[in-house]
Amino acid sequence: MFQALSIGGSKAQAQVAVFGVFQGEKPDAASRSAAKSVGVLDALDALAERSEGVSENGGLIEHVLTKSKAGPERVFLVGLGKKAAFEAGCMRNVAATIGRKLAAIKATSATIELSGAIHTAKGGKSTIERCGQCFGEGLGLLAWVCDDFKGSGTTAPKRVKLDVRSSDKAFQNAMETGVALAEATNLTRTLSQTPPNVATPAWMAEQAKKLAKQYGLKCTVMEGDTLKKEKMIGHIAVGSASENKPCIIRLEYTPKGGKKKGKDADKPIVLIGKTVTYDTGGLSLKINNGMVGMKRDKDGGCAVLGAMMAIASTVKPSRRVVGFLAAAENSISDEAFRPDDVLRYRNNVTVEVTNTDAEGRLVLADALCWACEKENPAYIVDLATLTGGVVVALGSTFCGMFCENDRLRAKIEAAAEASGERVWRLPMHQEYRDMMKSPVADILNSNPNRKAHPIQGAAFLSYFVDEKIPWCHLDIAGVHVSEKNAGPYVEGATGWGVRLLANLVAKD
Ligand code: BES
Ligand code: MN
Ligand code: ZN
Repeated sequence: MFQALSIGGSKAQAQVAVFGVFQGEKPDAASRSAAKSVGVLDALDALAERSEGVSENGGLIEHVLTKSKAGPERVFLVGLGKKAAFEAGCMRNVAATIGRKLAAIKATSATIELSGAIHTAKGGKSTIERCGQCFGEGLGLLAWVCDDFKGSGTTAPKRVKLDVRSSDKAFQNAMETGVALAEATNLTRTLSQTPPNVATPAWMAEQAKKLAKQYGLKCTVMEGDTLKKEKMIGHIAVGSASENKPCIIRLEYTPKGGKKKGKDADKPIVLIGKTVTYDTGGLSLKINNGMVGMKRDKDGGCAVLGAMMAIASTVKPSRRVVGFLAAAENSISDEAFRPDDVLRYRNNVTVEVTNTDAEGRLVLADALCWACEKENPAYIVDLATLTGGVVVALGSTFCGMFCENDRLRAKIEAAAEASGERVWRLPMHQEYRDMMKSPVADILNSNPNRKAHPIQGAAFLSYFVDEKIPWCHLDIAGVHVSEKNAGPYVEGATGWGVRLLANLVAKD
């Protein structure tokens, strides 16, 4: 929405001064004195007279001042909703409302003076910081543009650079953190948007290497004969039909200074993302329009990449974090893997392929095996656009979460609460695991009975995770993309999971 977004980058008087008001209230004393100090108290008071216009959360009214005066040219009054219902997360939508209006009038600078109003709600200083961060996230997410694939057939809209600041330095600093997290999320969204004729597994590896170089991460790529040697049979099978060869991308963040102390301190957090750069379904070909949009079947891996950026640029935890992207293209050719094939994994679990469209679990299994065997993880979180069933069950409101470890689940839920990316627990039971048993091999990749698809996916994956290692599987098929232009999102990729993972790692 903006050509660029900066925080506190300009000393000049801001063009727009933004104040907030709760439903049914008038601007508070602190907001009024902030308005007075930049010469817009009359404007704010005039807006207060019309404040029924912002009684709904997210409403915005403006007052345009006469040009001759020094100071802001416009004043916005934005509705913060009902005070009793207010929480920091509301700031993401408030920021989006303000940002959309700033973009519409092509403003180049704004000062965000919401602290006065926020202080009248419960919480105090910690709230200001949480609010500032959420505001930065909302504005940063809204700022995302991906023009890379537009050509001469469209006229690019004119965008301007926007600088925002606040006279409340705690709010402004937190806003900066929020924008940084949004920037990492926007990398994920741009990768998701990249079409499958560009974004091949090798291209994803190049992006990972670029990121690693930029932020001092270690990046290694397992491909070709190494995949064979290491028995990464899921990648070999799923990727066999495509000229775009599969690979497993490993990114590692190591803390620079004070390392974590205490028990398990040397164990890394492991993040794994399904990175199917295109999912045709394979020989179990997708029908009708089921294939459209399957460029986004790599979004679990894109989220892991974005999370690694957030971790290296902003979170900088004192524990190691290892990210894996399980990358392959599920295509068709005479070399395709097929229903009835049996795959032997490196942990010696054998899989009968019943449906080549249940390919995500086949590549994730390689990475889960490897992580459990080689990485000594504190815990593992995987993200995958695994099943259409989770979209049927939860829509785009909640991500499907599978986690049988109470401590890890509590951490995931807290991180989700902080990032506003909602998770809903789905059940696991031995009966579901039994449903995956195969008459020819150990397990099959999909039970043709069509029952409980999202749970089948999780049950399948559980055969590749060491029982002693806490593990969480997030099925993001419903939440990785938005169909509407609303709040801080536009139609397209949401970058779901980046901020959740950043919050998760930050607490550990
Ligand atoms: N990538 C799809 C899941 C998907 C569907 C993601 C719709 C986003 C939107 C996955 O590989 C798949 O095809 N899953 C099958 C599993 C089935 C064959 C067991 C599905 O959900 O139909
Ligand atoms: Mn599939
Ligand atoms: Zn898939």
